[in-house]
This record gives sequence, C-alpha cells and structure tokens, in this order.
Amino acid sequence: EPVSKEPTNDKVEELLSQMTLEEKVGQLNFIVGDALQTGPASVTNDGERLEMIKSGKVTGVFNAPGAEFSYKLQKLAVENSRLGIPLLFGADIIHGYKTIFPIPLAEAASWDLETIENGARVAAKEATSAGINFNFAPMVDVGRDARWGRNAEGAGEDPYLGSLIARARVRGFQGNDLAAPYTLAACVKHFAAYGAPEGGKEYNTVDMSERVLREMYLPPYRAAIDEGAATVMTSFNEIDGVPASGSKYLLDDILRKEWGFNGMVVSDYNSITEMINHGVVGNRADAAKMALESGNDMDMMGLIYSSEIEKLVKEGKLSEETLDKAVRRVLKLKYDLGLFENPYLYADPAVEKKEVRSKENYDAALDMAKRSIVLLKNEKDLLPINKNVNTIALIGPLAENKDELNGMWSFFGENQDPISILEGIKQKVGPGTKILTADGADFYSDSRSGFSKAVGIANKADVVILALGESAVMSGEAASRSSIELPGVQKELMQAIQKTGKPIVTLVSSGRPLAISWMDKNIPAILQTWSLGTLTGPAIAEVLFGDYNPSGKLPMTFPRNVGQVPIYYNHKNTGRPYTGDYSEPASDRIYSSRYRDVENSPLYPFGYGLSYAKFEYSDIQLDKASIKSGETLKVKVSVKNASKVDGEEVVQLYIRDLVGSVTRPVKELKGFKKLMIKAGETKEVSFDLTEDDLSFYRRDMTFGTEPGDFKVYVGTNSRDVKEADFMLM
Ligand code: BGC
Repeated sequence: EPVSKEPTNDKVEELLSQMTLEEKVGQLNFIVGDALQTGPASVTNDGERLEMIKSGKVTGVFNAPGAEFSYKLQKLAVENSRLGIPLLFGADIIHGYKTIFPIPLAEAASWDLETIENGARVAAKEATSAGINFNFAPMVDVGRDARWGRNAEGAGEDPYLGSLIARARVRGFQGNDLAAPYTLAACVKHFAAYGAPEGGKEYNTVDMSERVLREMYLPPYRAAIDEGAATVMTSFNEIDGVPASGSKYLLDDILRKEWGFNGMVVSDYNSITEMINHGVVGNRADAAKMALESGNDMDMMGLIYSSEIEKLVKEGKLSEETLDKAVRRVLKLKYDLGLFENPYLYADPAVEKKEVRSKENYDAALDMAKRSIVLLKNEKDLLPINKNVNTIALIGPLAENKDELNGMWSFFGENQDPISILEGIKQKVGPGTKILTADGADFYSDSRSGFSKAVGIANKADVVILALGESAVMSGEAASRSSIELPGVQKELMQAIQKTGKPIVTLVSSGRPLAISWMDKNIPAILQTWSLGTLTGPAIAEVLFGDYNPSGKLPMTFPRNVGQVPIYYNHKNTGRPYTGDYSEPASDRIYSSRYRDVENSPLYPFGYGLSYAKFEYSDIQLDKASIKSGETLKVKVSVKNASKVDGEEVVQLYIRDLVGSVTRPVKELKGFKKLMIKAGETKEVSFDLTEDDLSFYRRDMTFGTEPGDFKVYVGTNSRDVKEADFMLM
C-alpha cells in the first residue's frame, strides 16, 4: 500500500519500529552497483550483490545507471525484501552525465552563478532520467595547492566564491522539491578540508589551525548546507590527528550541533575501514563503532557496518539508539526523495531517451564551456583570428583528440561524443581557409619525432594554434603531480614552433594551474581552456574567432613555478613583507619574506582574465567615510568599455582589515558582479558592504567585527584594483 510522500517522522518511526537489527544495518550499507569502481578492491560479485538487495542488506547502489537497469534492481528490492524499502541510486555526476560540461574548476572560472546552476540542473535532469537519485556532488573543497589533482573538481582557492558556487550547484541539483522529477539529492563533499593535504599529495595528512579551518575551508560546506543540501560525505583525510570519517568534532559538534544539519552523512569510499590504516583504531569493530558514534550514518563500500554493527549492539558495546538515529536519517532521505510513494519515479527508459544528450542540453553545455575559457594574454590583439585567414596550423596532442576532452570525472560520458578542437575550428572558418594539423608530441613520451612535421606545417601557416596541456587523468582523484609544467616534451615542441617566428595562440588544457612562465614570456596569445567537455571544439572556436568575447577569470592563482606553491591571493602580510621591485641588488632587503630566485607575485593573480574589450575603472565612491555597527556601506565604481566590442566583465570587490586582534589577509573577496558592457558604454556598479562582510574569527574565536580602519578595493582582478579607505566605528 503506497505511503504518503509527506516526509513525516511518524512514517519513519512506524517503519523503524518494524525493523530487525539486520534490516537496520542494511539501510546503512551502500555498495557499488556495477563493474565500475572508483576505489580499491572488488567488494561483491554480481550474484552476491543481487542476493543482498533481495534480502534488504543494501540501502542503495552507486554506478548502476540506466533507467532499465535501475528499474530492475529497484524491483528486486521493493518486491523481495521483507519491508520493501526502496533503494537509493548514487553516482558521481560531477560535470554532467552524458552531456559533459566543463570540469568544475573551469565552470568556476566563469564566475557565472546562473549558468553554473543551470549546468547542475541539466546534469540532474539527465542523471535522474537514467535512474540516479543521489549525486555525490558538489565537491566544495577549497584548494590552494596546484599540485593537488582534485582542484579540478572544486571551485578553486576562495571561500567566498566557493560558497556561492556551492549554493548554485545545490540549487541546480535539488530544485525546490526532492520528490519532483528531475531533482536528486546533493551530497556536499568532502567534509572536511580534503583540499589541504600536505605537499598537495592526494589523501595526505591535513593539519591546520581551527581558525584557518573555519575561515578558509569550512564556509563552502556551510553554504551548501544552508542552501539545503540533503547529504554530506566525509573525507579520506585526518585533521589534527583524527580521520574525518570518525570525527565527532566535525560530524556532530560542527555539522549537526553548530550548523543544524539534519540530513544524512555518508562515508567516502571505504574510508571507515581505512581508519585502521590511519592508526586510530586497531580493528574493524572499533572502526565501525567510532564512525557511527561520530555521526557517520552510511558506510560506502566498506561492508564494515554490515559486518560489525549488529554484533556490537548485541554485545552492548553500541547503543541501538545510536544505530536508530542513523537509520532514521536514511529513511527520511528516501521519503524526501519520494521513493516510498513511487520507487520507480526515476526509471523510465522513454524519458531517458528524450532527455539524455538533448539539443537543449548541448546548448547549455556550449554556453557553459565558452564562459569557462580564460584569456591570459593577447599581445597586439592577435585574437580574435579572422575567419577568412588563409592557412591555420593546428598543432599539439589535443589538436584532433576526442578521448581527452570529457575530462577527469565523466565516467558516463562517451569518448566519441566530444567535438574536437579541429572540428570546432572547421565549423567556424570560411570556405577558403586551409587547416593543417600535426600532433607534434603526446602527453607522456619524450619522443620528438613529431616535431619536424609540426614545424613544417607551422612554416606554411599564417597563424599557429597550439593545443597543449594535460591528459584528462592527470587531474582528478589520485592525480597529484609534483611538477606542474606541461607534461612530456610539449614545452620543447612549443619552443621549436616559436622559432618559426609565426604568430602563435596557445590553448592550455588542464585541471589545475600550470607553470607557464616561458609561454607567458614568449607566446603572444594564451587561452586557458581547462577540460571543456562535449562541446570543447565549438566553445574554443567561438572564442578564437570572436563570436564569443572571453569573460572568464581565474578561480586559482597561477604560480610562476611549483616552488611558489601553495600560493593564494588571500595570504597574510608577515612581519617582513617584501615591498621592493626586484630591481635592487639582492643584498638589499635580504631579510624579507621572499625567495632568492623568484618574485613573490604569481604569474597570473586570482580573479585574472582578459577580454577583447578594454575596461576602464573609475575611482571608488563611498557613501560614507565611516560606518557604525549594523550599517551598510555603499561602494560604487563606474566601468567603461573603451573598445569597439561588447564584452562581459567580472567586477570584483575586496577588503582588508588593517588591524585585528589576530592578523588578517591582505585581501579578501567580498563581492563581485558579472555584467555585459556594450562597446563605448559606461556602467555603474554598486556593492553593499555589511557588518557580516567585515566579520571574522577574533582572538577568542567568536565571530564578529572589530572597529578600526579598512581598505576596500574594486577591480578587474585581485591585483589590479582601485582602493579607498573607511572606518568601522
Ligand atoms: C571519491 C568520492 C566519490 C566516491 C565514489 C571516492 O574515491 O573520493 O568523491 O564520490 O569515490 O565514486
């Protein structure tokens, strides 16, 4: 008999009261649903898995997509298990299901919250129509170290930008009603501070002060939860000696008590069991107990709750009330998703056929992709290229490639779907334009055998386009790199082509900031193109030939070399800041905070990105010189497009609190607006600064403001700004 979709606790309680211990534990056991695995060790074979589903020993499966397949599994659960509790269907829909969007770091570079939200909505639409109702996204880990591979999956280094993007993604995935068609449960991950492993090395130890944790790393998780994210995933790392998957401090004190989160917490892949490797527990029983008692409700892939919890309860070592709490949260999620009313809500092959890879979805992916591209350099307006240019030489491992374009986390994408850079260019240029292509080099080998052909075609061309960068698997999970140079011999290839003296545009594809100082010095035009997904070619072609004026801004600082890492714009001043211009002899100001062999400044600062238009900023106008607690400061500038082309600009506002009871960052992003300014037009942009924007964790760890002097900056990136002063009384 169908149960009402109203997620009342009564319904959950009624069900809970009928459940055996074994059935309760089953509701916490989440396993992979198909051959696809994202971590070590095969856990179950197919036969076993089906038996577990039928007997209610599994709460849900992940990586089992397809409306038909999920229907089949759901039917097994609903019709065979004693209580007929429906399954969750999970997956990592990180940047699209079949229509692949740019990697999240690229999307973040758009600073375009509406388009990002729409991208998440499209992903949810495709994924739900293929049966998925529980998405392991958004990943909101702040990352400041370019070596870390999973920067690709996040929104970059800034907690403010990251928080707004986290909210946008949650809205896109969840809509207003989890039980409505096309919406799924978001899972905010990885809680917490997974983006700060020592040395940028994946899964490594995280250690930071509580102040840095709260100020720089926690805000995006909090924002996603305030936006209503239904679930949270723990992280693999330890913080301050305690693995996150068993941290009562994180999962109970902060997440539930402080932030009021009442949704469900799932572990990361086998992360409960891995607490044994971390060395905080000596056996599986203790690991399971520690995790469940900390508030980690569901076990992903560890099969550790299913082997340990029942026994622990029976032996009196774990209270049944603790178990019930976790089960309640899982059942509540299933009610909220509407699964008790209609377990097959998401399993309709006809809907799947209609929604997946629709024209509308492709258009949305193209829109997102072109907005994600960042123009890093454009000497003498080499870009945009004339569509009727005689001969283009397109050179590099990504020139004709399709396999790499979907990017790092696109398990469900098809390799043949993406439109290559060559195809994109072909669709754009005039009928008389000749395109010559050569790979020149690949991503991995040190073979230079392709160089001579590449140089040969460059010599015949009017303009050379170099399509260089990382392969897809060089970023993402378990893809940290100790070098952030162009991999293989691509730099040498670029140097060989540069010797031809031809005008060169470089497209840099990567899931992280790369160290491209030589390129910046020697190549006239550079576009950061990340991994753009299915519509890579058309998006790049729109920018190359001026049909779209690039508007992206870097969400992470680009270092000059790997030795500067970690490098981020919102750093502290230190007691001996270096203020020279590097022209003075090295002996001067030697005892200041700097390296001997490289400037302190990055190659490209956070928030940086050029346009084919030229924007001119007026001075800042403030409506008052000082504000009292509770008042709002109005900050105004006008921005003029002093060029002949229309363009979008991201106007950025930063503050600095000059004196605090604890030291404050030299700049902090507190607002931005992305707007279209027509050629010749001037637009006034205004921001409201509130007390909340000026608040921080003070010496005593209370959150609030302190009176004193502030600076406010407005500009086109975090470096090139106008400034003004005000006081908080
Ligand atoms: C990743 C998670 C992911 C999970 C399931 C883990 O290895 O860290 O982000 O959701 O696998 O695929």
